[in-house]
Amino acid sequence: MCNMTSLGLLHFFIVCITLHVFGTVNSLKSLQIHVPTAVMTNQDAELMCTYDLEGAQLYSIRWYRNMIEFYRYVPKESPATKVFPVAEIKVDVALSDQNRVVLNQVDRTLTGEYQCEVSADAPLFHTDIKAAEMVVVEPPLIKPNVTSNRLSYVGGDHIRANCSSPPSLPAANITWYVNEQMVPGFTANHVLNFSNGYASSQATLELEAAALSPVPTLMIRCEATIFDVWKESSNVLVLRERSANPASALGRSFTGAANETRLSTIIIVLLQIVLNMVINTYETSIR
Ligand SMILES: *[C@@H]1O[C@H](CO)[C@@H](O)[C@H](O)[C@H]1NC(C)=O
Ligand SMILES: *[C@@H]1O[C@H](CO)[C@@H](O)[C@H](O)[C@H]1NC(C)=O
Ligand SMILES: *[C@@H]1O[C@H](CO)[C@@H](O)[C@H](O)[C@H]1NC(C)=O
Ligand SMILES: *[C@@H]1O[C@H](CO)[C@@H](O)[C@H](O)[C@H]1NC(C)=O
Ligand SMILES: *[C@@H]1O[C@H](CO)[C@@H](O)[C@H](O)[C@H]1NC(C)=O
Repeated sequence: MCNMTSLGLLHFFIVCITLHVFGTVNSLKSLQIHVPTAVMTNQDAELMCTYDLEGAQLYSIRWYRNMIEFYRYVPKESPATKVFPVAEIKVDVALSDQNRVVLNQVDRTLTGEYQCEVSADAPLFHTDIKAAEMVVVEPPLIKPNVTSNRLSYVGGDHIRANCSSPPSLPAANITWYVNEQMVPGFTANHVLNFSNGYASSQATLELEAAALSPVPTLMIRCEATIFDVWKESSNVLVLRERSANPASALGRSFTGAANETRLSTIIIVLLQIVLNMVINTYETSIR
């Protein structure tokens, strides 16, 4: 804050006096930063900063990435806007002002912490700074893939399915669906990190088919998600029940739509999701 080159000698003097007298500079209690948690690579990102100067004039807005200033707005100066070359940041000057800064076509190198600093003008130079993280997402090139050890089952069978989502940045979260019911509480997955920063995800679903299920079909799929900016469903595996005892299969019908049947009525005994340790499945060379 005691930066001579940017505030000028007088401002420097007064800000430092204020620091000494009050210990800290009086804060703009109302300062809020709004940075998207995640943004897709090559898209634009809008970073917002809202504040209430309580009647005082604005002295300056500064935006930093990982503590390095890349954008400054000082209404009393001409031009009011200054852009500093930092990393791959491309500021859209026309769309940026005292409340926002727009970054064009972000790429993975722009993942990091962003700070917005607001200073009010004389006499008090109230200053505050807030920070937030932004992740630039590179999604997988293809959708997740589900495989199973079987295509049909009889009651009591142990069914196992694997879901894998190819390398992305960051790793995708995997969620399982059985007959369109989300399998609750099992979003964890095993992540494989690669030296280039990408990571792939794998998860295994294990369940035991009920001895007498009202619907003789199991539809299994998984979904891979990256924050709220990317989501893809896998292929759907359809497992048909074989009749172990032909008489028990009579009167059963395939017409019941599976999504009309709640998971609980299928009485699937969900055993666990095993986190796989499949280190050899992917090589860094996939990307
Ligand atoms: C899914 O994985 C299986 C087994 O590894 C493979 O044979 C199949 O081609 C994959 N499907 C897709 C769409 O990648
Ligand atoms: C699931 O992954 C595990 C670990 O790689 C493997 O041993 C198993 O054969 C896979 N099962 C299926 C059904 O693909
Ligand atoms: C993969 O990388 C993430 C993020 O850097 C880290 O949290 C995680 O522990 C790593 N996992 C493994 C298995 O190395
Ligand atoms: C994965 O899920 C966890 C728990 O909901 C969440 O905190 C995290 O942000 C998610 N990660 C991604 C990449 O979506
Ligand atoms: C079943 O799924 C279809 C397509 O997703 C939907 O249109 C229909 O309303 C669903 N039926 C029920 C009972 O949820």
